[in-house]
Amino acid sequence: MFIPTHNLNSIETDILVIGSGIAGLFFSIKASRFANIIIITKREKEEANTQYAQGGIASVTTSDDSFEDHVRDTLIAGDGLCSRPVVEEVVEKGPEMIEELIGLGVKFSKKPVGKGYDLGIEGGHSKRRVFHAADMTGKEVQTVLLNRIMEKENVRILEYHIAIDLVCQNGKCIGAYVLDIKNKKVINVSAKITVLATGGAGKVYLYTSNPDIATGDGIAMAYRAGATILNMEFFQFHPTCLYHPYAKSFLISEALRGEGAVLKDKNGKEFMINYHKQKSLAPRDIVARAIDNELKKSGDDCVFLDISFKNPDFIKKRFPGIYKKCLNFGIDITKDPIPVVPAAHYSCGGIKATLDGQTDIQNLLAIGEVTCTGLHGANRLASNSLLEGLVSSFKASEKCRLLLRFDIKNQRFACWESGNAVDSNEAVIISQNWDEIRRFMWNYVGIVRTDKRLERAKKRIVMLRDEINEYYWDFIVTSDLIELRNLATVAEIIIDSALLRKESRGIHYNLDHLEKIEPRNTEIRKKRTWV
Ligand code: FAD
Ligand code: SIN
Repeated sequence: MFIPTHNLNSIETDILVIGSGIAGLFFSIKASRFANIIIITKREKEEANTQYAQGGIASVTTSDDSFEDHVRDTLIAGDGLCSRPVVEEVVEKGPEMIEELIGLGVKFSKKPVGKGYDLGIEGGHSKRRVFHAADMTGKEVQTVLLNRIMEKENVRILEYHIAIDLVCQNGKCIGAYVLDIKNKKVINVSAKITVLATGGAGKVYLYTSNPDIATGDGIAMAYRAGATILNMEFFQFHPTCLYHPYAKSFLISEALRGEGAVLKDKNGKEFMINYHKQKSLAPRDIVARAIDNELKKSGDDCVFLDISFKNPDFIKKRFPGIYKKCLNFGIDITKDPIPVVPAAHYSCGGIKATLDGQTDIQNLLAIGEVTCTGLHGANRLASNSLLEGLVSSFKASEKCRLLLRFDIKNQRFACWESGNAVDSNEAVIISQNWDEIRRFMWNYVGIVRTDKRLERAKKRIVMLRDEINEYYWDFIVTSDLIELRNLATVAEIIIDSALLRKESRGIHYNLDHLEKIEPRNTEIRKKRTWV
């Protein structure tokens, strides 16, 4: 469904949802039962981290598994920083969420013989509990959720609309300024409730599994509005992304290692044996650091993941997406080891929010990867993210139902002022700053950190931030400029958070502070400009 906005300066809705991944879509399906909703999304509606998810969704459903086991695995991965009540609630809601998805039409892979679902296993899980649709779980979920959304009369999706900033008045969020990218026009969207479902920030790093949309916009907007941002130093690196000059951001799922795939060096020697008793299926942070160490020692460009000893028919059926993609690059995974490198994958930190989406700004909710709810702590357990997206959006929709009973009114607000800004003819400045940030974040704030590297990164980001801000206000706003500014903001929050944590814990590993100290969250908050 599409409503043209090029003749309008402002639109009103009960709920503005920013983002069309699993969190925004599942929330909207639920909330459409009692409210009118506008979803804005900055590219095509399909384009979200969600649609690239491979491994699947973790949930306890078998008699040899238990909630306690899933809770324990999550807490171990989180390395002392998870909130146990949050973990318990998410884990216990898992089966209901899987039922909901199946009810909406999601088809998870079934066992080839007999009844029941074919459950996968990934690093850190003690049992097989991962529901998947072959190796294209995200695509299946995204497609089904979008199909259901398109049937809703009271939900409108505006593609190529990018939120620039939240609008807050008297401590409440009343909507957002939104750039209609195609018509180059800023519109006011006035909403009783605004929901941030903008996903992660992988693009802050040079190498990432994330698609281009992952520029941390929601975190940056919430920060500018005065919300608290938690634990941003915990940026998860996935150990195995395809290493090939033409393969951009292609993940090789941890589910391969779940099915026995082994990490080797270029001479075919297994090396994980030297790092962890679970070898190639050790938790993600340990595998990523081990690969980083091997590459630094050897000077090689990549390591290799080998599943070629498995039956070719099994490989093609279980991993059709990965098989096909690699074949396109001349790698037959039924015969050849796959060249892989680690890449930035998931933001465990984010906007401080309860599981039902409440931030510390009234009428502003946040759900999905953009949040930090206490589920992941210092490191996320594989396949817990889509689950969190479902549970938090489900609970946030219930919260909205209650909030809307308070008769919140739509508020008008002043139109976007471009002042003396002119069209920029210096796109090179954006691409230069973009590349620079991503490169020093990778080199100085990556898998292994030191105080000196972090301080260097801080110096550079302060300089770039000032330059970008100046540029931002001098030129007419574009989506590239909005994203660059957000990327810089998120990079600075990650650096500041990493500098504050004087220990190594979970995925934050600092050679100058190898010991753990008292568990605590890292909070970053800007001074509010409103009361
Ligand atoms: P997203 O799905 O990222 O959606 C964000 C949406 O917000 C997008 O539509 C985007 O365009 C929009 N947006 C962003 N900023 C703006 C703005 N300023 N204005 C308007 N719109 C905006 N997790 C698992 O649990 N299991 C897995 O198997 C798994 N595999 C993964 C594989 C890959 C390759 C990747 C990248 C991630 C994987 N993850 C997995 C993580 C998981 O996919 C994500 O954490 C999850 O999909 C996030 O969902 P979301 O709805 O919060 O955000
Ligand atoms: C993967 O399939 O390896 C990704 C799973 C995840 O990020 O949870």
